[in-house]
Formats: sequence, structure tokens, C-alpha cells
Amino acid sequence: MATNNHHCCSSLFFLLLPLLVLFYSAKSDLQFNYYAQSCPNAEEIIKQEVTNLYNKHGNTAVSWVRNLFHDCMVKSCDASLLLETVSGVESEQASQRSFGMRNFKYVGTIKEALEKECPMTVSCADIVALSARDGILMLEGPRIEMRTGRRDSKVSYLAEADNLLPNHNDSSLSVLSQFQSIGIDVEGTVALLGAHSVGRVHCVNLVHRLYPSVDPTLDPEYAEYLRGRCPTPDPDPKSVLYVRNDLETPMILDNLYYKNLLKHKGLLIVDQQLVSDPLTSPFVDKMAADNGYFHDQFSRAFQLLSENNPLEDDQGEIRKDCRYVNSN
Ligand code: HEM
Ligand SMILES: *[C@@H]1O[C@H](CO)[C@@H](O)[C@H](O)[C@H]1NC(C)=O
Repeated sequence: MATNNHHCCSSLFFLLLPLLVLFYSAKSDLQFNYYAQSCPNAEEIIKQEVTNLYNKHGNTAVSWVRNLFHDCMVKSCDASLLLETVSGVESEQASQRSFGMRNFKYVGTIKEALEKECPMTVSCADIVALSARDGILMLEGPRIEMRTGRRDSKVSYLAEADNLLPNHNDSSLSVLSQFQSIGIDVEGTVALLGAHSVGRVHCVNLVHRLYPSVDPTLDPEYAEYLRGRCPTPDPDPKSVLYVRNDLETPMILDNLYYKNLLKHKGLLIVDQQLVSDPLTSPFVDKMAADNGYFHDQFSRAFQLLSENNPLEDDQGEIRKDCRYVNSN
């Protein structure tokens, strides 16, 4: 009797196993229009808020692009970046790598609009992803398809941010291998760096290319201009001196970035290296020659980045306030 029972149930179990596996993996997978039932206007609300914010503070769009990189590169796209320092647990925002990041308070504006319509439904991680997608449109970049259903982390990872986010002066080899480790190839990495077509760089991230002597890979006239913008070798880290990434179209995500690299006008060492490394330079040439190709590659790689390692159901939550984990 007992053996029979056992037999019946274990075969039922094995019969159902593939279904169970399917069910569980589908649950943790991202999908298009994840909020179709639970909050049908979610994507429209985010787009509206991103547009309003862009009209009031244009550089918010630039911030959304950098936010996605900093959030997704560190373990997972899980809004861990947005957590503020609480009771001794320091925020990823405190990392030296996050220097210059801004506009975090406006993520709260987007979240509030969503909470009004559908409380506790839309994750902060999806806000990071969709605001970046819509910000890119404001910057005249490509339209990027994005899946949703990300969940929010319950911790911030300051030490991991220090280790996993590349530094301004990292070698090409190390940058490429860091992106490779999350499934982004050389072509995709070259395209993603094209985000430096918009926004700014503070002098602290530049001066070692200008003093005591000028980096020979910099165009001498451009170096002269940069020395004018950054007049001392030791800028106060709190000072606001900065240089725009792309002087001609600083608010447009276009391939001028690659044209500038070919003229030795890359701002960061990681930027300029794309021209000297034979692995990356053919892609720089192609992207400089063809904005459509740059946009296609940028979309492809940005989507991959945005889907790095999404959290499984119980590993994450839907935060009420993007700055803090929910209290239980
Ligand atoms: C090797 C990889 C990368 C390094 C070392 C790097 C480093 C930096 C640094 C040092 C700055 C200037 C910060 C400041 O001084 O204010 C910056 C700005 C920026 N980065 Fe990156 N970055 C990398 C890749 C990316 C990627 C993949 C994206 C997005 C796809 C991105 C988006 C941005 C944006 C939009 C800004 C301008 C931010 C603003 O003006 O507020 N970066 N990055
Ligand atoms: C890179 O820059 C940092 C300062 O941002 C500096 O401490 C470090 O020594 C530099 N590394 C290399 C390899 O030049």
C-alpha cells in the first residue's frame, strides 16, 4: 500500500516537473509589457514624467542613461543604486565611481506618479530601465525595446560598485573583460561608450591627462582648451569645474563622439583608448561613419545591459520609496 502510494505520487511529480520548471523560470523572466494587467498605464506615466522632467531640467535625461549603467553593472538591474545610506550601510552612490551623478531626487517624482495610480506595483528597477529608454529618446537616440518585471534589491552594494564599475583610466583589456562578463561583446562595448556623447566630465577625472605634462594621445589644441577649463592639477573634488563631453551636440546621443575620438578629442582615457586598441578601433571607424549603425549597436547592447541578471521573485521586492527598502 505504502509503496503503491509512493509510486503514484512520485510519477505524478515527475510528470509535473517540466511544467513546474517552466512555471518558475517564466516567473522570473522579464517580459514585454509586464504591467499590462496590474498597471496598464505604467509605461505611459513614466514616459510622461520623463518628458516633463526633461522640459524642466534637460540633464535629467542624461542622468537616466548613466543610472542604468551604474545600476545594472553592479550585480543586477535591481535599483540597488537608488538606496540611500541608512544606519551605517553606505549607498552605492558614495562610491568614487559615482562621482558627478545627479538628479536622484527626480526618480522620486516618477515613482510618486506611479504610486498614485498603482500603489506598490511598479518596481524602482523598472523605473531605472524605462526612464533610461525614454531619456534616450529625448536625447534623439534610438528607440529601444525593453522588457519589464524587474524586482528591487533589499541591499546596496557599495564594495561591489567600487570593484565592478570601471574606472576612468582602466585598461582597454579590463574594460572589455568586465563587459564580456555580463554578456556584452566588443562591438557592444564600443557602442555603449558612445553614451559619453552626452553630459559632462569633472576636472578631477581629467587632470592627470593635462598635468604635469599633456597626454600625447590628446590633440594639443584641445588639451590647451581643457587646461583652460581645468586650470589646476589638483581641483577641489567638491568644485564644480567640468567639461562637456561633446562640445557641438552635448545633448544629442550621436556618433560625434566617435568622430571626436578619431580627432584625438576623447575626454577620458577609456574613451581615447578605443582608437588605439586594434580590437576596438575598427568599430570606432564604423560608428564614426554611420550614425544608424551606432544607434543599432547601442540599442542592442543597452538592452543586454538592462537585462543583466534580474532578481528572482523572493530575492527582490517592489519598493514603496526608491530610496529605502520596505520595512517589514
Ligand atoms: C568603461 C566604462 C565607463 C567608464 C570608466 C565611465 C566613466 C565615466 C566618468 C568618469 C564620467 C564623468 C563623471 C563626472 O566627472 O561627472 C562619466 C559620465 C557619464 N557616463 Fe560613463 N563611464 C563608462 C561607461 C558608460 C556607459 C556604458 C554609459 C551608459 C550607457 C555611461 C554613461 C555616462 C553618462 C550619460 C555620463 C554623463 C553624466 C552626466 O553628465 O551627468 N558611461 N562616465
Ligand atoms: C587611476 O586614477 C586614480 C584616481 O582616479 C588613481 O588613484 C590611480 O592610480 C590611477 N590608475 C592608473 C593605473 O593610472
